[in-house]
Amino acid sequence: MTRPVRACIDLSALRHNYALLAGIAGTTQCYGVVKADGYGHGIAKTVQALADAPKFAVAFLEEALAIREAGVNKPVLLLEGFFGSDELKVCVEQGFEVMLHEASQIESLAQAQLPGPLTVWLKLNTGMNRLGFTPEAAQQVLESLRAMPQVKVLGVMTHFACADIEDLEPAQRQLERLLTFRQGTGAGLQFAAANSAALVAIPEARLDWARPGIMLYGCSPFAHRSAAEIGLKPVMSLKSALIAVRDLKAGDFVGYGALWQAKADARMGVVAVGYADGYPRHAPQGTPVSVKGQRVPLIGRVSMDMITVDLTEMPSAQVGDPVELWGPEVSVDEVAARAGTISYELLTSVTKRVLRCYDDGLA
Ligand SMILES: Cc1ncc(COP(=O)(O)O)c(C=O)c1O
Repeated sequence: MTRPVRACIDLSALRHNYALLAGIAGTTQCYGVVKADGYGHGIAKTVQALADAPKFAVAFLEEALAIREAGVNKPVLLLEGFFGSDELKVCVEQGFEVMLHEASQIESLAQAQLPGPLTVWLKLNTGMNRLGFTPEAAQQVLESLRAMPQVKVLGVMTHFACADIEDLEPAQRQLERLLTFRQGTGAGLQFAAANSAALVAIPEARLDWARPGIMLYGCSPFAHRSAAEIGLKPVMSLKSALIAVRDLKAGDFVGYGALWQAKADARMGVVAVGYADGYPRHAPQGTPVSVKGQRVPLIGRVSMDMITVDLTEMPSAQVGDPVELWGPEVSVDEVAARAGTISYELLTSVTKRVLRCYDDGLA
């Protein structure tokens, strides 16, 4: 017996979500965004399972190399580009595509001696004001890049700040800037803008390539539209079990800070999972936890290795009963909303000490 905390990854749900996205995308091709260890799902198993994805996108070189270590040889885009020119040779050798977003990268590239052409995308800042060249500067940069024999410019990308909200006006303005820029470039370039939210909500933003991430993992990028409504299936289930059950008298307190007090005689359970596993410490009392398929409220404060739940409505609950913190019974989006965060943060915060187990759904 070991401590029962597991992150169980349903690879058939991952494939289902990719197929759903590809159906929405139509003729637009999709990078599978697998940065941050496949949003916490394990990059190797994730890229191996996503057999239909033509390309992947990660944040930086070491994440791309992890895809090669997994035996997958598809093109991989480095969304933050390169940090030092020592990375460029391996990018060429491995067929990695590099995002260029900053003048110093262009200068390094101009000086670089490379074993072959480096495939690059240019990042256009259309209003997010994080990375990228302004449309005015980008024209000049494109010309410089086109004059470099060691560079192959694949296309131009931008990133939306607000494609996940109901008011799509700001995202439409960003898209217009990209499309205006496109009119001023010659033929032969590809264009990309959409993340998960834009892929669904802004059909005109689909263009040549989209970069969906969070929806692959079965979560909704929208606060106003659930993953189930979109047809997505949860990929990760964070599971554990009850390790203690006790009866309380009216007036008894539970946990650090004595945050919860029984108003009447009650029954409570202790679940082996805590913030050191990635369960959010800020999850408030009342956050749903599924015990043996029944939703019960979190009570007291989340501690490092344990949480406590109210089992008063579950008199038959006992030590060893299975618990789902998030998954098909309690969505990670719901837990995230309760804890004042987003599913992206919860999925990527499941810690190393949590064993990942994989179900390929093929057995
Ligand atoms: C540049 C870029 N493209 C695409 C994505 C994927 O976004 P999402 O997970 O919302 O689909 C991200 C994620 O943060 C990103 O930074």
